[in-house]
Amino acid sequence: MKIYENYPLKDLTTFHINAIAKHYVEFTTVDELKEILSSPPVKGNKFIILGGGSNVLFSGDYNGFVLCNKITGIETVSATGENIFIKFGAGEKWHDVVMYCVNHNYGGIENLSLIPGTVGAGPIQNIGAYGVELKDVLTEVSALDVKTLEIRKISNAECKFGYRESIFKSSEKGAYIILSVTIRLTKDPQKVNVTYGSLRKEIETMGITSPTIKDVSDTVIKIRTSKLPDPLKIGNAGSFFKNPAIPDSSFTKLKSEYPGIVSFPSADGMTKLAAGWLIEQCGWKGKRFGDAGVHIEQALVLVNYGNATGKEIYNLSERIIESVNGKFGVRLEREVNII
Ligand code: FAD
Ligand code: EPU
Repeated sequence: MKIYENYPLKDLTTFHINAIAKHYVEFTTVDELKEILSSPPVKGNKFIILGGGSNVLFSGDYNGFVLCNKITGIETVSATGENIFIKFGAGEKWHDVVMYCVNHNYGGIENLSLIPGTVGAGPIQNIGAYGVELKDVLTEVSALDVKTLEIRKISNAECKFGYRESIFKSSEKGAYIILSVTIRLTKDPQKVNVTYGSLRKEIETMGITSPTIKDVSDTVIKIRTSKLPDPLKIGNAGSFFKNPAIPDSSFTKLKSEYPGIVSFPSADGMTKLAAGWLIEQCGWKGKRFGDAGVHIEQALVLVNYGNATGKEIYNLSERIIESVNGKFGVRLEREVNII
């Protein structure tokens, strides 16, 4: 176990914020992780787990241990005529796993192509895009209980997944370190999901009548690269806020005042609003304050043009929340984890 002191985090998060970790350690196996957690310098000190750093904002230096997950591995657990169940190590890069499946013609996660970060962070917020969420295919999470250092198998139902939610973000926050994720994939190359509006439209425009797993993956990659900033060029963590859901009755009122409001049907008498639209209507899109800004193409994405501090990005997010609440009476919630 090698512990680094005063470790720069700038290139370990996609926001590329200039923050320092008091201590930094990487782990590649479960045994190594257990050793780290039970060793005197870490025990009793505060720590956080870092994957690819694509959904975190360091609001300042971190005065504890940053433990970076590098556990890899791909293992077929079982197979039936229709499905194959594969367990992926939590430190595997999510997009590499998607490409592995696409190249083997295993379907189910192609809509989640190009999402940055690691497999282990996927269940934390139940990653989702283009009509699919991780909860649709995840069968089991294997996780280390931080207190007992025992490994627990957690089923899909026990994860209590919701839109950008799970027990790992709420009731069990900080209680587990995810070690691996098992996913159910289909062996039928024609079984794809193109129900999401912009995906279906793009597939039609390309003249594809019977899309394959690879067609869907390629199209999702095409759409994503056209509207989301590349973190290697401009620091960002994807959508900074969640799309808010409001009661249908409140939506009817808002719609009469703002007929152009962008919305999607949601569960149980609720309507989901496009937070990007709300933010754009408040005039934030493309705004820049020093090196902190709101992306010019996608108002839901806050960006670091170079040397913005975590505080500056955070303060900008506060101003956006206040202004959207002031105009629409809707309070945005952050998707990004503030540390
Ligand atoms: P990190 O940022 O390292 O960590 C995120 C949180 O998970 C932290 O609280 C961390 O402590 C915790 N964590 C990480 N690993 C573990 C573990 N093994 N065990 C326990 N806790 C852990 N997200 C979507 O859902 N859909 C999208 O379409 C999408 N698009 C994006 C596009 C861009 C350009 C970017 C930059 C981000 C996007 N994201 C999207 C957000 C992000 O990619 C995902 O949330 C991703 O799962 C984060 O993975 P990570 O490894 O980088 O997590
Ligand atoms: N819109 C605007 N102005 C903007 C941005 C968006 O008016 O500046 C409106 C447009 O009408 C657009 C609609 O909002 O049609 C939806 O925009 P988009 O399709 O880009 O999706 P999103 O709601 O902004 C969500 C996820 C993304 C995910 C895409 C595709 C959340 C918070 N974000 O974005 O996830 O990739 O859908 O499924 O749910 C992430 O979580 O980090 C992320 C990027």
